[in-house]
Amino acid sequence: MNDIGVIENGSILIKNGKIIKIGTFDEIHSEVVLEDYEIIDAKGKTITPGFVDSHTHVVFGGYRADEYTWRLRGDSYVDIMNRGGGIASSVTKTREASFDELVSSALSRLKSMVRFGVTTIEGKSGYGLDFETEMKQLRVMKKLDQMQPIDIVRTFLGPHAVMPEYKGREMEFIELVNKEMLPFVKEENLAEFVDIFTEKNVFELEESRVYLEKAKELGFKIKMHADEIYPLGGAELAAEFGATSADHLLKVSDKGIEMMKENDVIATLLPLTAFSLKEEYARARDMIDSGLAVALATDLNPGSCFSESIPLVIALATLYMNMTPEETLAALTLNAAAAIDKADVIGSIDEGKQADLLIHEFDSYHYIAYHFGVSSVEKVIKKGKIIYDKEGC
Ligand code: NIG
Ligand code: FE
Repeated sequence: MNDIGVIENGSILIKNGKIIKIGTFDEIHSEVVLEDYEIIDAKGKTITPGFVDSHTHVVFGGYRADEYTWRLRGDSYVDIMNRGGGIASSVTKTREASFDELVSSALSRLKSMVRFGVTTIEGKSGYGLDFETEMKQLRVMKKLDQMQPIDIVRTFLGPHAVMPEYKGREMEFIELVNKEMLPFVKEENLAEFVDIFTEKNVFELEESRVYLEKAKELGFKIKMHADEIYPLGGAELAAEFGATSADHLLKVSDKGIEMMKENDVIATLLPLTAFSLKEEYARARDMIDSGLAVALATDLNPGSCFSESIPLVIALATLYMNMTPEETLAALTLNAAAAIDKADVIGSIDEGKQADLLIHEFDSYHYIAYHFGVSSVEKVIKKGKIIYDKEGC
């Protein structure tokens, strides 16, 4: 993750939205007729791949500002959840919201993400918990994917929380999801991934296993919310099922880290959530030093983490998780692309890949972390086209 392959005085040739050649300025310019190309001048700047936010809950109805204030006064996230707030409260508001309302609120979040240099995201359902609303959320993402430049990879997160009527009957809810929702999502191609909140008093290991078996049988790729609040063994389960990624991992065991590594599961760490919940950060150093691939994402959602701030992710990763600037960049680009199984098309500046690029202020990538809490992104290029220009905004 430290070997990021910097090219000094580099040039990038783009055609039909793809990178067709990279090299030094002299190499590229000796081979091509400049007049045949539109030039985007990045002299004195740094170019990186576009950021990939591989874990978001971008589509939801309503907000939970009241709960945030309660947390600031000392209530815990779990206390609020047990009182019927938390995810359940967003579920009520998402059920009430119309399709167009969900499109419009998520669209404004996506516009904010572009300014931070995000060119691809993963988005989850999970604020419906009934057939109609889960499908509504996935269809909203499908629509958003078509109407604006950021690519959205969809994940079905039906087992995100237990609504009061299913308390104590969690397995019945899983059976309902397995019978009625998963096959439909597959048939309609509404999601590429599935996810589950595997957590003590939410969906325990046995329920998670029944769900993941069905999902795997139907051919879904797997993500998991694992070992976030309690060390339940979610990482081990992710390894057992060959998940693409296990996310959060604040309480992961050493064995979980080892098993994830052996089974090529990517550890997606979400420092903004730990920050917002005032929890200890995930053990990024132990993970990277043991050879595990680490990705970073925002976890943007209305409850545990209402923030899409990539600059804050970078600041926390470098200052509090002891990740180097190079590891942080890899975690937000190539490893994040791998966490959504897109590392063959995005996540690095390589010939043949999609031209999703960022032009940053300053002539060295070190400034991206150094100028902490502030976005260094001046221009965002998606599939070869400028989609954000700080100067013109
Ligand atoms: O990733 N942990 C579970 N799910 C979300 C929280 C969602 C919410 O609070 O609305 C998370 O942190
Ligand atoms: Fe999440």
